[in-house]
Amino acid sequence: MKFHVLTLFPEQIEKGLSDSILKKAMDKGLISLNTVNIRDYAENKHFQVDDYPFGGGAGMLMQAPPIFRAYRDLQAKGVKSKRFIYMSPQGRTLNQEIVKELAAEEELVFLCGHYEGVDERVLEELVTEELSIGDYVLTGGELAVMVVIDAVSRYVDGVLSNDESTGDESFEQNLLEYPQYTRPADFEGRTVPEVLLSGHHAKIKEFQRRQAILRTARKRPDLLAKADLTPVEREMVHKYLEDLPMNAEASSGLIR
Ligand code: ADE
Repeated sequence: MKFHVLTLFPEQIEKGLSDSILKKAMDKGLISLNTVNIRDYAENKHFQVDDYPFGGGAGMLMQAPPIFRAYRDLQAKGVKSKRFIYMSPQGRTLNQEIVKELAAEEELVFLCGHYEGVDERVLEELVTEELSIGDYVLTGGELAVMVVIDAVSRYVDGVLSNDESTGDESFEQNLLEYPQYTRPADFEGRTVPEVLLSGHHAKIKEFQRRQAILRTARKRPDLLAKADLTPVEREMVHKYLEDLPMNAEASSGLIR
């Protein structure tokens, strides 16, 4: 997977993605990151890339010409991605489904805005979609694009090892992940659920599925509505919610 990012702060993105799993994936050539500094495409001696909005209003806008030049230069260098994604709080809100959809591409091009945004003609002519990472406003798109690149890279073949894989984790099948424990089995009198020490594979699976379902019912009922449950499991949820005290804390751990 090749990621290209048009930004005024290439170093922030490069530094932010240069550790751990993503670094290894880049070293192995499974993913690549090409940051393009929009300022390199300014055509004035002060390298200015922003200006006041026509009609007034707060702050400065990123100008269209340097962004057009930067994007066209990428195309001239052979980048063929049909998608040009502008990171913006006005876009579709990122979720795991969108992450998987993006991971199916071979190449993605992103634009990070700064200041009060970008000249509308960039959105009209170049950008194919806007993508948000949540309903709040960041100082720029850089942190947002790092979130997207991190989440998408996990779905690129070979980036995660088998035991880190995406199979059982939260949001797969619209369920949250079940609780997990490691040694010691007894920590200050708090013991690990016995079934996990039993070695009984089928019972462990059943325990984990039940925990995943009930914990989703408690913390994220909106997700559970989309999950594929058997009638018996639906009944189990119903019963569990009926018995739940009104003031039960949503985040408390193991479900007995
Ligand atoms: N740029 C500023 N805020 C943003 C957000 N919430 N998501 C994506 N890009 C942004």
